[in-house]
Amino acid sequence: MSMRITVVTIFPEYFDSPLGVSLVGRARETGLVEIDILDLREYGIGRHRQIDDAPFGGGPGMVMMVEPLARALLDLEETHRVLLTPAGVTINQSRLDKWSSMDSLTIVCGRYEGVDERIAEHYVEEQVSIGDYVTLGGEVGALAIIEGVVRLIKGVVGNPESVDTESFRGGMLEEPQYTRPADYDGFAVPEVLMSGDHGQIDLWRQEQRRRRTETRRPDLLERDELGN
Ligand code: ADE
Repeated sequence: MSMRITVVTIFPEYFDSPLGVSLVGRARETGLVEIDILDLREYGIGRHRQIDDAPFGGGPGMVMMVEPLARALLDLEETHRVLLTPAGVTINQSRLDKWSSMDSLTIVCGRYEGVDERIAEHYVEEQVSIGDYVTLGGEVGALAIIEGVVRLIKGVVGNPESVDTESFRGGMLEEPQYTRPADYDGFAVPEVLMSGDHGQIDLWRQEQRRRRTETRRPDLLERDELGN
């Protein structure tokens, strides 16, 4: 059975081209993943299909109403529902690993100044963020999740080894990579990589991973195996 991912959004067209290209496009064509984009407007209220309203207590902007989202979510078959919000827990590789083993994942894209808190509390299993910055809405985060999850589905990436050796598996950043030419405009590739000595090459790569992680992401070295 293939995995099903459902995205709930007020901008369905946002997803047209990114989900049609590259490995995600191919995984959909070959049936390794089914991705459905659900237009929240279809659940809007009244003639104008209203989906947002002014916040109780005042303040700027609009809040996504509870009813259209709740009805959209209750219409879905058994699934794991994730709300994208800057107030969520930051996504990491272990969360993507967990989601990629599920039969059905639903991603809810928040928009405007926020989503009625009753959605967060009663209609989703998790609230997640893509980082400590604010975008216009959850759509860009939904794409990040989809790419991160789909590449973990068996058969999507040709060589399975390239899935486990990448950054964040083992909690370290990846080592630098080079390809031809060995010298470009005086910028040379590290000699050890051309030595043919695989023991030395492995050692060099390990050392590079450690050094990069220490200087760029020391926080990763303090985490446990699950990245928490
Ligand atoms: N919507 C706006 N900013 C966001 C973020 N950082 N993560 C998830 N959803 C968002």
